[in-house]
Amino acid sequence: MMDKLNIKALRPGADGNNPNAPNAANYDEAKANPYPNLPEALVLKDGKKVTTAKEWWNKRRPEIKEDFDREIYGRVPKNVPKVTWEVASVTDTTNGGVPVIVKKLIGHVDNSSYPQDTVNIQLTLTTPAKASGPVPVIMQFGFVFPRGFRFPPRPAAATGTPPPPPAPTGPTWQQQVLAQGWGYAIIVPNSIQADNGAGLTKGIIGLVNKGQPRKPDDWGALRAWAWGASRALDYFETDKAVNAKEVGLEGHSRYGKATLVTMAYDPRFAIAYVSSSGEGGAKLHRRNAGELVENVASTGEYHWMAGNFLKYAGPLQWSDLPVDSHELIAMCAPRPVFIGGGKNGDGWVDTRGMFMAAVTAGPVYKLLGKKDLGTTEFPPVETALITGDIAFRQHSGGHTDVPNWPTFIEFAKKYFK
Ligand code: GCU
Repeated sequence: MMDKLNIKALRPGADGNNPNAPNAANYDEAKANPYPNLPEALVLKDGKKVTTAKEWWNKRRPEIKEDFDREIYGRVPKNVPKVTWEVASVTDTTNGGVPVIVKKLIGHVDNSSYPQDTVNIQLTLTTPAKASGPVPVIMQFGFVFPRGFRFPPRPAAATGTPPPPPAPTGPTWQQQVLAQGWGYAIIVPNSIQADNGAGLTKGIIGLVNKGQPRKPDDWGALRAWAWGASRALDYFETDKAVNAKEVGLEGHSRYGKATLVTMAYDPRFAIAYVSSSGEGGAKLHRRNAGELVENVASTGEYHWMAGNFLKYAGPLQWSDLPVDSHELIAMCAPRPVFIGGGKNGDGWVDTRGMFMAAVTAGPVYKLLGKKDLGTTEFPPVETALITGDIAFRQHSGGHTDVPNWPTFIEFAKKYFK
């Protein structure tokens, strides 16, 4: 990909492990904003101000989408093959005492164009057995990995060594969702597209490319996972247990990124809980805090993005990006989005940078008749900002999505009857 882009070398990312390294990750707010001027979400490329919803939908949003497609996440090809959903099993059981029906689903991707590659999307759907009609469903990008998978080590100084699994106190997120009378689903991203660069010639990306390497504006893993989530929603639209107009999406960390990308690109998703998404997610690319563009462009993570993204860690600077993450949030408007992060070991994701993006997306929500965050001031830890249609909360529990679930559900209740 570097050859294709004519790039000789990439700048190294921030070192999250060694605070004395010359390229140690920055956590000093005074140094965090080298490029304070963000691209304007409501100014067209020709310099004209966007003042009506119509101009947003017909002119500015397509410009922003094109920039994200080409430079950041890549394009979903036009000829992605069809998915046929199979209900592999249906089980009556209970969760936390609530009777539920669990459906195991497999999304078989038509591979007749390239039989060497097989993609079977794994999805489970759980709905309350006693529901009197279709229910809202929250779908999670699940941390479910192939056998033998080992997580690459996470920057220790930034996130805690290693992040302790959150102590299970109280009901699980699934039980909290069931308590509202809603259902939940878990989709397995790795069954759509592998989480590594070598996998780019396999999975759904490899299937469409017939095993060949990507073009610079081809989709990366984040858009592939998002595509898979949209296919799950196609299935929900056919299942009478689900109110497909009230399907929410949740993901943490890399899957927080995938959640925001899915929500931005597929207007059928009703709400999103974007947890600790960091760089490549809700965090502003122009921020020097925690993880950087250069980290995501490195060998361990570049596969999440379009090849073109490498340029911004090579000859170009972050300030050359035609868009920034506030505009990805703005692409979700007018639908509600909850942005969350942690303190005490979640510095790597730059929660303040995600807050700033959430603030800066506000004018687009307002233009579409919705409410922004309601403040521009970074709130104290554990303060829920959920009165608007963009919501935010920083919990104190480190790199985890667990502590923000009750607040997200409270937020979602405003929208799901
Ligand atoms: C690494 C990576 C992050 C990512 C995280 C995760 O820390 O740098 O971008 O969000 O892994 O997904 O756990």
